[in-house]
Amino acid sequence: MNAPVRWISLAVVVAVLIGGGALWRVVAAPPANQDVKAGRAVYTQYCATCHDDSGRGDGPSGGGLATKPADLTDGRLMNALPDEFLVNVIERGGASEGLAPTMPAFGAYLGAQQVRQLIAYMRTIAQPAFTAGMAAPLVSVPGAPAQPILFSHVVHAGSFQIPCQHCHADARRSEYAGLPSVERCMGCHKIIGAADNPEIRKIHGYYQRGEAIPWVRVFKVPEFTYFPHKAHVRVGVECQACHGPIERMRVVGANTGPDLRKDAISLVGFRTGAPPLTMGWCVDCHRDSNKKKNTKAPLDCVTCHH
Ligand code: HEC
Ligand code: HEC
Ligand code: HEC
Ligand code: HEC
Ligand code: HEC
Ligand code: HEC
Repeated sequence: MNAPVRWISLAVVVAVLIGGGALWRVVAAPPANQDVKAGRAVYTQYCATCHDDSGRGDGPSGGGLATKPADLTDGRLMNALPDEFLVNVIERGGASEGLAPTMPAFGAYLGAQQVRQLIAYMRTIAQPAFTAGMAAPLVSVPGAPAQPILFSHVVHAGSFQIPCQHCHADARRSEYAGLPSVERCMGCHKIIGAADNPEIRKIHGYYQRGEAIPWVRVFKVPEFTYFPHKAHVRVGVECQACHGPIERMRVVGANTGPDLRKDAISLVGFRTGAPPLTMGWCVDCHRDSNKKKNTKAPLDCVTCHH
């Protein structure tokens, strides 16, 4: 064989290898589908006994449990839960997110890849269908305080989509947003979780002793300032504009702190990008809003300081 022919035949061999390889990959299905298939197998082995083969939560071992195994096919509840939340529940058990401890921890039996595959599978059985972007990642705020009960906004406001003002009912009619009373929690939790969730038993304890739940306060402006919720909620400022994405916080925290320099710059009329809850932040929004939306948000000292 002369040199040019050798080169051509080598090129053909290489082309066949590359082309054939690509063809093989297409025929053998993309990796995503393989994950779903592998996830389905892990699911059948470890989860179907409680969550049922269908995923609806009525498997043979689930019948005797007071809190029913979750219906993993219910997209209305599942789609808002980010992967991180699901990984945590699967590896460390329901109790790690405040759910019933009858959802066992599988971290000792399943590797990270199997957990990932399980989630890939679970995402395919949800109705309405799950699409990427539905479950925005959790937000953890450094310095968020430990609360007396592991109450999760991710579960209540994220997954179950209970409206903010169902619990913070004073927000549109008073200075304060208010926290729900024990009675309000009991309205749902007299039954939900009462038999087998220790976090929910704590609610019953406070209720029976006639005590308020001693929640640790998170957002706070100093005593010498006046902040009314009513005016803001009525004019349509969203809770999240001031508090951040609460429905994605496992524990609520405030990303705030005084910033005296920016406060001073803002008072003399410049936009500062001051951190939430500082004076510069209040004044920035008031000035913007008055300019763009024709509101009458106060800029004078005495309305906010009396
Ligand atoms: C022994 C029975 C049992 C087994 C086995 C089990 N689960 Fe669960 N699971 C539960 C129960 C009960 C709950 C409901 C907890 C609650 O709502 O408080 C639950 C809840 C969950 C949730 C939370 C859903 C939500 O809406 O917050 C996920 C996710 C989950 N299970 C996934 C799995 C996976 C994946 C497996 C297999 C690796 C599995 N479970 C195996 C009983 C079980
Ligand atoms: C409108 C009904 C409703 C109200 C009001 C309510 N919850 Fe829940 N809560 C639920 C539902 C639904 C779940 C999910 C149950 C499950 O999957 O196990 C839940 C779950 C929980 C859980 C376990 C998951 C988590 O969040 O850690 C705790 C703890 C809890 N609630 C505490 C409270 C407290 C404290 C209050 C009052 C401040 C309260 N709930 C008010 C409906 C409610
Ligand atoms: C089921 C009742 C319930 C629902 C629904 C709910 N919350 Fe809460 N919220 C609570 C409880 C209980 C606390 C106190 C414990 C904590 O900080 O997590 C709280 C705390 C807060 C705090 C911090 C309060 C402080 O001390 O400064 C903010 C802000 C807040 N919620 C905003 C929201 C927003 C915004 C929504 C809707 C996206 C919402 N909440 C939905 C019950 C609820
Ligand atoms: C314009 C900004 C802003 C908006 C909008 C806003 N808040 Fe607040 N919120 C604050 C500030 C500032 C505080 C601290 C108030 C204080 O220390 O008196 C606070 C405090 C709270 C608290 C602690 C308890 C209380 O009553 O003071 C809760 C709960 C709360 N907000 C929930 C909500 C909810 C729910 C919404 C939406 C319906 C909302 N907030 C809308 C700024 C806001
Ligand atoms: C995201 C925008 C925004 C932020 C942040 C904000 N406000 Fe406002 N505020 C408004 C708007 C808009 C109004 C005017 C409402 C109207 O025209 O009825 C208003 C009105 C007020 C009023 C007048 C209430 C009344 O009864 O007339 C006070 C007082 C006030 N804000 C205090 C504060 C304080 C204190 C802060 C910071 C802790 C703050 N606001 C942060 C948008 C904001
Ligand atoms: C829209 C409401 C608002 C207006 C208008 C306002 N302030 Fe403030 N001011 C605040 C808030 C909220 C704080 C608390 C800030 C913090 O804790 O970081 C504050 C804090 C302060 C402080 C303490 C130091 C600091 O920066 O935290 C001083 C001093 C002060 N204000 C003076 C003034 C003077 C003087 C004016 C009028 C020129 C004024 N404020 C107008 C909301 C306001």
